[in-house]
Amino acid sequence: MKLFTVLVLALPSLILAKGHNSTSTTSQCKEIARLTSLMDLASNATKLASATHDNSTKASAIQAKASAAATTLATLQTNTTLTALCDVVFASEATKASCQTMAKLEKEAAKAANATASDKVKTKAAAQANELAALQGNATLTTFCAGLKTQETCQEMSQLQKTIARAANGTASSKNSTKTQLKADKAQAKLAEMQANATLLAACSELGVEGKNCPSSPFSLCTTPC
Ligand SMILES: *[C@@H]1O[C@H](CO)[C@@H](O)[C@H](O)[C@H]1NC(C)=O
Ligand SMILES: *[C@@H]1O[C@H](CO)[C@@H](O)[C@H](O)[C@H]1NC(C)=O
Ligand SMILES: *[C@@H]1O[C@H](CO)[C@@H](O)[C@H](O)[C@H]1NC(C)=O
Ligand SMILES: *[C@@H]1O[C@H](CO)[C@@H](O)[C@H](O)[C@H]1NC(C)=O
Ligand SMILES: *[C@@H]1O[C@H](CO)[C@@H](O)[C@H](O)[C@H]1NC(C)=O
Ligand SMILES: *[C@@H]1O[C@H](CO)[C@@H](O)[C@H](O)[C@H]1NC(C)=O
Ligand SMILES: *[C@@H]1O[C@H](CO)[C@@H](O)[C@H](O)[C@H]1NC(C)=O
Ligand SMILES: *[C@@H]1O[C@H](CO)[C@@H](O)[C@H](O)[C@H]1NC(C)=O
Ligand SMILES: *[C@@H]1O[C@H](CO)[C@@H](O)[C@H](O)[C@H]1NC(C)=O
Repeated sequence: MKLFTVLVLALPSLILAKGHNSTSTTSQCKEIARLTSLMDLASNATKLASATHDNSTKASAIQAKASAAATTLATLQTNTTLTALCDVVFASEATKASCQTMAKLEKEAAKAANATASDKVKTKAAAQANELAALQGNATLTTFCAGLKTQETCQEMSQLQKTIARAANGTASSKNSTKTQLKADKAQAKLAEMQANATLLAACSELGVEGKNCPSSPFSLCTTPC
């Protein structure tokens, strides 16, 4: 199984979080990633010393946890259907992280392109130019990121529709009906603006009302494989 670096949590507090017995694929994959990180932490003296601030009592406790976790991890990993699904989940999460990196670098490059930008901002952007170009030159990545953005927009539309429906249902809504109505009016205006985009509507209809179905391409954007 490919190891995934984003879900493989970097924070000791999360690695040491209470385990859970949830059976959904995503949470099982997260559990595999967490347990793997725990084993990794326990077996690396440098990491362990840093995570425990050189407290050997804490270090021993982590090692004991890891040794108990080994069996659980091994058991989860015997399920090859699960580990194959986790590969998809992890790849999807890793690609999402690349989209975030690309968006951040693009934002910084745009800032640096402004004539009034400081030398510091310009130097930083110049140093990142190659990395940004490499990301932008990867068609698989840019297609995925565009699909992801669409999916998020569809989900936002679905949320707006819910806000409007809740306000329309007088019985369901809150203490302050003026406030609820103002919120609904705002949602309605935003929704109308979004719905004017036929390309977006077509894409959303492929994703389902909740925006949670898998689009047909480029590959599964869903965190939970479907
Ligand atoms: C998970 O299940 C095991 C065995 O059924 C049980 O002993 C344990 O307490 C459960 N852990 C949690 C966090 O629910
Ligand atoms: C142990 O952790 C340190 C710090 O994160 C890392 O640089 C090193 O490569 C790790 N060692 C092993 C054997 O994985
Ligand atoms: C080390 O950790 C243990 C357990 O958390 C704590 O009781 C103890 O005070 C710590 N020792 C030092 C020197 O901080
Ligand atoms: C293996 O994992 C899959 C996906 O989570 C699950 O549907 C299946 O029941 C698991 N099989 C066993 C034997 O636990
Ligand atoms: C392009 O991006 C995809 C998705 O992040 C990645 O799997 C692939 O390795 C990248 N290709 C290159 C040449 O970097
Ligand atoms: C450039 O930066 C200035 C000052 O921050 C800002 O007012 C202006 O709108 C920016 N121009 C562009 C084209 O972004
Ligand atoms: C309005 O809200 C009530 C209470 O939550 C709910 O039972 C009812 O089904 C809702 N009606 C509509 C049309 O959504
Ligand atoms: C209800 O919300 C509106 C708009 O935010 C506000 O002007 C008004 O004072 C609120 N009324 C009460 C009773 O809280
Ligand atoms: C319409 O939606 C598509 C898909 O989300 C997007 O690529 C495009 O930029 C949008 N067009 C406008 C005018 O906003």
